[in-house]
Amino acid sequence: MRIGIFSDIHGNFEALEAVLKYFKDNHIYKYICLGDIVGYGPNPNECVEAVKGLKCPVVLGNHDYVAIGKGDVSLFNVTARNAIEWTQKQLTRENLDFLRTLPFIYRTKQLIAVHSTPREPERWEYVLTMDAALQNMEYYTEPVCFIGHSHAPFFLELDPEGKPQLIRDNPMIIKDKYRYMVNVGSVGQPRDNNPKSAFALYDTTQKTVTLLRVPYDIAITQEKIIKAELPIQLAQRLQNGF
Ligand SMILES: [Fe+2]
Repeated sequence: MRIGIFSDIHGNFEALEAVLKYFKDNHIYKYICLGDIVGYGPNPNECVEAVKGLKCPVVLGNHDYVAIGKGDVSLFNVTARNAIEWTQKQLTRENLDFLRTLPFIYRTKQLIAVHSTPREPERWEYVLTMDAALQNMEYYTEPVCFIGHSHAPFFLELDPEGKPQLIRDNPMIIKDKYRYMVNVGSVGQPRDNNPKSAFALYDTTQKTVTLLRVPYDIAITQEKIIKAELPIQLAQRLQNGF
């Protein structure tokens, strides 16, 4: 079975459409969404409706959490705060209700999916260091943990002796008795100096995880951001992916 795993759409409908087109063109019909469907971007309702339409597991992101009136907006920087306040006004009652149904964690025998960390998902910590990754790997027993939140993809492998290694191979092979943490990157606001939408493909039969990128029409999203009078930096950063 192949599962498309994607995160951090952030109201960028053009980017989401490009990723969903990739799934369709490649006959991928199972998905997991790791949250932050909204915040920053100009199409929160369209993105929630598209994700809802997939009828797939979805977990809550920190921007979704603030959008539904939970979480602490003071933890956001000014740009994120302005954008989430704009987003709250845009979201329909149905779409807010959908976001309210979302759990923090989704898990199966093969994987655990969470927006931020498996340790304490509601604290919205970032996995930015090897230490943080290793500490979090103690909080799940599934072979692979998929995360988002930092908008920067990585593959981390832990061998049976507990020795970690960042893997550059793509696809990455999931070996027996090894454990993994994968950041799938961001669909709608990549921050690894690559403006293309990022997501992952988990082939549970072949036992591989592939990090993928697709281009989308950035100019259209930028135009919408400007028209909506969202902070201009949100349009600029899409250009270079930072
Ligand atoms: Fe995010």
